[in-house]
Amino acid sequence: MADNLLDRFADIYEEETAVDTGKKVRVGIIGTGWIAEGHIEAYKRMEDVEIVAAADLVPGKAEAFCKRYDLPDVRCYESDKAMLDAEQLDAVSICTYNCQHAPCTINALEHGVHVMLEKPFTVTLDEAVEVIKAEKKSGKILTIGFQPRMSENYQMIKKIVESGELGRIYYMQAGGGRRRGIPTPYGTTFIEKETGGVGAMGDIGTYSLDMLLNAVGYPKPLTVTGYTSNFFGTDPEYYTNHPEYAEKFGVEDFAAGFIRLEGGIVLDFRISWAMHMDSCGDSLILGTKGGLRIPSMECYNGDLPAHMKIYKTVAGKEVCFEVPKDKAPDLFYKKLRSFIDAVKTGGEATVPSGQILYNQAIIDGIVRSNALGHEINIEIPEI
Ligand SMILES: NC(=O)c1ccc[n+]([C@@H]2O[C@H](COP(=O)([O-])OP(=O)(O)OC[C@H]3O[C@@H](n4cnc5c(N)ncnc54)[C@H](O)[C@@H]3O)[C@@H](O)[C@H]2O)c1
Repeated sequence: MADNLLDRFADIYEEETAVDTGKKVRVGIIGTGWIAEGHIEAYKRMEDVEIVAAADLVPGKAEAFCKRYDLPDVRCYESDKAMLDAEQLDAVSICTYNCQHAPCTINALEHGVHVMLEKPFTVTLDEAVEVIKAEKKSGKILTIGFQPRMSENYQMIKKIVESGELGRIYYMQAGGGRRRGIPTPYGTTFIEKETGGVGAMGDIGTYSLDMLLNAVGYPKPLTVTGYTSNFFGTDPEYYTNHPEYAEKFGVEDFAAGFIRLEGGIVLDFRISWAMHMDSCGDSLILGTKGGLRIPSMECYNGDLPAHMKIYKTVAGKEVCFEVPKDKAPDLFYKKLRSFIDAVKTGGEATVPSGQILYNQAIIDGIVRSNALGHEINIEIPEI
């Protein structure tokens, strides 16, 4: 009878297994900079996770990081390679700057380790393809760190589209963006070509792309006309205390793209770290039966500054109503918890690489189209 009872609650039982503290997941951190702090704070709250190792290329940085987080038993290394060769790990968080995402992820997968990779997925489409090849070969989980996916507001956007209330979607506009917000308070790894690789698109644009593309089921991008510029980042007067950063600036601080997606949807994208405007505007989803307005926001925190609005014609009247909004608490913890749950239960990646491949293909396409000065086809190889 007890067995029957357990069978009836199989789902709940599985969830309990996920936090079974008898089975600790052995985790390593690669890159102990700013965002690694979010990872370590979340992992420290999980009784079924043991942080066993940390690596950073800067000598002493991983040690200082572990000291700050009161982790005296964590073994520290000066590269991802040294750590992966020496340790038997179940999983890693890859928190390096963008240009090291692909090599570190491939290396971890080749060592048979599950990977939580910070966004953006990679810098180029070619790198993303190589990472997915390594993922497929390894059979391990690779998930990309888009915490807004855990937000009920974002989930609501997808639910609204899937409900059919908007009809057939034909146009999407990505808004948001910053007036002054080149992320240099913690150094220059975001703005240098050798470390960041891409700028505003990889930092914040990738989130707004994910918000919209995920809502409509991640259709394949087909063509793109892209534009990028760097007028603010390369101007010494932009930086109050560090005019020398202008010399180091090697990425874009503004980008725009017009993308045709499979299924007849067009995506009108723009993103900014700096411009003479308060915002690139709201995000819009237009369908044959309704439209959704998503207020301009910093997409990374999953919060909404105002209500989303749905526009429809009802009984011959043009109406507009507000969508209830939710707070988006603890998204960072939830993203890491969902990764650990997937590792423990053999579950699916919350944010699969196969989707983010298309996100990366758009960013890569905008860079290439800008360099060529005309529209290009987006060619994504079968993997
Ligand atoms: N999810 C989010 O909300 C969020 C927020 C900020 C940054 N990020 C992403 O996190 C990543 C890191 O950002 P950050 O601000 O922490 O950068 P950072 O420059 O502060 O830290 C990166 C660290 O990685 C180390 N590193 C690089 N290659 C390495 C390697 N092969 N082995 C070991 N260490 C290596 C560097 O020495 C550096 O200390 C970026 O890709 C960024 O886009 C995500």
